[in-house]
Order: sequence, then C-alpha cells, then structure tokens
Amino acid sequence: MAAAHRVGHGSRGPAIEVPAALAASHERHSGAVGLAWIAGLPGMAAAFMERWRLRVDGPPRHGAVALVVPVVLEDGTPAALKLQPYDEETRGEPVALRAWGGDGAVRLLRDAAGAGAMLLERLDASRSLSAVRDDLAALRILSELLVRLAARPAPAGVRRLADVADAMLDRVPSARERLDDPRDRRLLDTCAGAVRDLVGESGDRLLHWDLHYDNVLAARPSSGRREPWVAIDPKPLAGDPGFELLPALWNRWDEVAAGGDVARGVLRRFDLMTEVLGLDRRRAAGWTLGRILQNVLWDVEDGERAVRREQRAIAAALLGRRGSP
Ligand SMILES: Nc1ncnc2c1ncn2[C@@H]1O[C@H](COP(=O)(O)OP(=O)(O)O)[C@@H](O)[C@H]1O
Ligand SMILES: [Mg+2]
Repeated sequence: MAAAHRVGHGSRGPAIEVPAALAASHERHSGAVGLAWIAGLPGMAAAFMERWRLRVDGPPRHGAVALVVPVVLEDGTPAALKLQPYDEETRGEPVALRAWGGDGAVRLLRDAAGAGAMLLERLDASRSLSAVRDDLAALRILSELLVRLAARPAPAGVRRLADVADAMLDRVPSARERLDDPRDRRLLDTCAGAVRDLVGESGDRLLHWDLHYDNVLAARPSSGRREPWVAIDPKPLAGDPGFELLPALWNRWDEVAAGGDVARGVLRRFDLMTEVLGLDRRRAAGWTLGRILQNVLWDVEDGERAVRREQRAIAAALLGRRGSP
C-alpha cells in the first residue's frame, strides 16, 4: 500500500502540484489560455482520479505540454494518467494509440474523448532512448519501432499529411519575406519545391510524427518487458514515413557534430533510418526537406528571422547527396 500518498478520508492522494516549468511552458506557448488550463489542472487531475478510481503513486512528470501522474488502479495495476489540453495537436493521440493496440506503442487503458485525459500503461520513465549511450544503437531501435508503427494505415480521424503540406505551401510567401539572409530564402524555396513535387503522393501510413529519443521509454521490468522499448506521445498523421525522420536526425545533435564532419554525421543517421525503414532515399530526403520547411515556418511565425543552424546543416547534407533540387 502506498499509504504515504493518501491524505484524508476518501481522498485519492494529495492535490497534484503543477510543476513550475510546465506552467511556464504553457504560458510561453499559449499565454492566458495556457495559464487558464494550468489553473484548472489540479481539479482536472482530482476529477479523473475519482472517476477512474486511481491512487497517486509517485511524483508527476511532464514534457512541454502534458502532465503525467504515476497512479495505480483499484486492482493494483500501475498506470500513468496523462493530462493535456484537448486541441488539434493532441486529439489524434488516443485514436492512434488505439489503432496500434500496444504494438510498438504505449497501451491506452482508458480515455475521455474530448477532455484531454488518458490512462496509459505505466512505463519506466527513468529510461528513455536518450540514455542509451551509443546514439546509432538508439537510432536503430527507434527506426525499428517506426517500421512497426508505420505498418498500419491511418484510421479515420487522424490529420492528413496532404492537408498539412498544402497548408505549409500557402504560408511560404509571407514567411519568405521575413527571412533576412538570401541563402535562407533560397533554402525555403528549395524545401517548398521538394514538397510541391511530393504532395500528390502523400501516403496513408499511421505516422507518429514526433519520435525522438525522449519519446521512446523502456517497459517496466515487472511488466515482463512485454517489449523492451515503446513509443509514447504521438502527434499522429496519415502520410509517408519519409516525413518521420527529422526528429531523430536532429535530436542528440552534439553527437552528430562530434566527429567534426556534420554532413557525414547527418547522412550516417539518414542512411541507417532509410535502410531500416526500406525507404526510397530521394523521396525520404524530399519529405525531410518538407519537415524542415515546417520547422522554419513555425520559427518564422514565432518571430525568428533566420533558419536554425541544425536545420541548415541537415538540409545541406541531404541536398549535397541529392544533387540540385
Ligand atoms: N506511460 C508512461 N509511463 C511512465 N511515464 C510516462 C508515460 N508517458 C509519459 N511519461 C513521462 O511523462 C513525460 C511527458 O510525457 P509525454 O507523453 O512525452 O508528454 P509531452 O507531450 O509533454 O512531451 C515523459 O517524458 C515521461 O517522463
Ligand atoms: Mg514527449
């Protein structure tokens, strides 16, 4: 019995304390709307603890968006209560997790449609692929997960890459004007050209869209390690798996740059991923340029006037390989 976490008669645990960094992240991204959601978070947590008859079982974790509370069910099963705003970004998550049914992804035990609350299988939050020392070994595990995740067609209710790509192309002209360096404007044009070439064949696979090393956690030993590693936190899209590569190319960047030859480091990762996923390299490079376009548009719309160094380096490495666009 984790009696230490129980307070008062009938309580399901102490009031949830919202981590200051999570509140700051919501304020930064969504201003007053974000702070209003944070203000309601302890009440929301208490309501779902009651509704699903859960007990708190340790300190909460968080990313930039979600609060994740370790809990136990009435029958003693460990689980994780994930709470996040319900919006365009998050509404596909339970849809995708249900489609995967635990195959390569965290199991969805329950969800409250429209409320931004999910009860998930508990994983080992202290062990992610970020902690696997050899980045290429971590990348191989991540890529093998991507193969399995992309084995399914996307179910209805998931956003389509085709629509995302069309919307990106519409935003290019105004973003272009806000980039100071002509080289960055050329890069934007090249990325937009790559998307234009591919947008007619955007694919129908169920993509995770945000599979970086922190979004792959180890299963807990007590679960019998049903799988050694599973994906969490999808922002699902229906599309071409080539659009999945950028997060794993970009994260753990110091290790890409460590050998001194950044282009070589990028291509080593790109080649490993495309080999494991069985992707056509030219198409995969095109969709990766599309993903760079997406990041640049977000950055520019947030007030940036230059393309980030890492994005430039990845684009340069891929274009160097691909030849002229
Ligand atoms: N099923 C789970 N079991 C245990 N911990 C989890 C689980 N899901 C998420 N976490 C922890 O919560 C953190 C944030 O969750 P995540 O789903 O990645 O949300 P965000 O969208 O905020 O990144 C993770 O980095 C991890 O530490
Ligand atoms: Mg995350």
